[in-house]
Amino acid sequence: MRYIGNKENIVEKIHSILAANNICGKRLFDLFAGTTGVGRYFKQLGYQVDSSDIMYMSYCLQKAYIENNQTPKFDKILPIIHNNGQIQSLFYTPLELVLSYLDSVAPIKGFIYNNYTPDGTLHLEVPRLYFTGDNGAKIDAIRIKIEEWKSAELINESEYYILLACLLESVSLYANVAGVYAAFYKKWDPRAIKPLKLRPILLTNNNQKNRVFNADSLSILYEIDTDILYLDPPYNERQYLPNYHVLETIAKYDNPQIKGVTGMRPYDKEKSVFCNAKSALQALKKVAECSKYKYLVLSYNSEGIMKQEDIISLLSNYGDVVLEQFEYNRFKSNNNGLSRTKKKVFEQLYILKR
Ligand SMILES: C[S@@+](CC[C@H](N)C(=O)[O-])C[C@H]1O[C@@H](n2cnc3c(N)ncnc32)[C@H](O)[C@@H]1O
Repeated sequence: MRYIGNKENIVEKIHSILAANNICGKRLFDLFAGTTGVGRYFKQLGYQVDSSDIMYMSYCLQKAYIENNQTPKFDKILPIIHNNGQIQSLFYTPLELVLSYLDSVAPIKGFIYNNYTPDGTLHLEVPRLYFTGDNGAKIDAIRIKIEEWKSAELINESEYYILLACLLESVSLYANVAGVYAAFYKKWDPRAIKPLKLRPILLTNNNQKNRVFNADSLSILYEIDTDILYLDPPYNERQYLPNYHVLETIAKYDNPQIKGVTGMRPYDKEKSVFCNAKSALQALKKVAECSKYKYLVLSYNSEGIMKQEDIISLLSNYGDVVLEQFEYNRFKSNNNGLSRTKKKVFEQLYILKR
């Protein structure tokens, strides 16, 4: 998934830097999980992984990829789908069969259609072009069906979150945006006019009890008792929720009171103290002081709002600190003028051995 600060492409590099510094263990806590790319990587290495994020859309991904160790069987819903004669195949996994059924449900003009497609927002001065009318109504129909199945106990909790994760991952491939949802294109990107098709997600099993949370990091420090505490907070003033508000609404499907040109949901509870230089440093201090870990690893950015000398000086109060850095292509979004002109920044790893 395209996500600001997504570490999927560099997590292997991060791991090799940690290995070169003799940072290893059996447990990792990913406190700012986002897309779960880091947790997933360490999970497949056999680590016991805990993770958390303030965004509910991330929690859905964490429930599916990190907490879940099962291959979903969908043993209650599959016979019902089969009886309806909607799908026939011996060659697909249960997840693929369920997705193929969901792909065929009749469209519904629900919250997404009515607020994020031009067909549903024609009455607005600027109709919203996040999804085509067909894709918007399909997203509504799929989201409603998943909820109906959960309420009728036709799918279990992990199956529920796996389906939501498939929906979120798939939707982001058809959204008419330049990576973030703080704005939509005024014309259709060719990607967005294709009919939406659900894609299965890949799951791993580490045979361990992995825990996931949907919380402000500062509120769950007492839950942290790990070998590697991995921190990947925001490194600038841009809050995450406005950039992913549509995905958050699809995940929660809670009919929020939206406003403005982009149909923004309220986000007072998802505002992060890490998006302000002063409060970020105070928060980092609290995390370093109040959590139990052998190693604290902070992923940051050479252009981040906390200053390098302040971070080193703060972390040095708790043990030995090493700073490793490497050049990296930043996330490209047309939303940020800087991104287009200046593409190279340093990805930094502050490694604290307690
Ligand atoms: C740089 S991104 C993490 C990216 C992630 N490592 C990945 O690979 O996708 C920062 C994440 O921190 C989350 N976040 C920001 N402030 C938070 C807070 N106070 N508590 C918990 N999560 C927070 C955001 O929602 C966002 O998902």
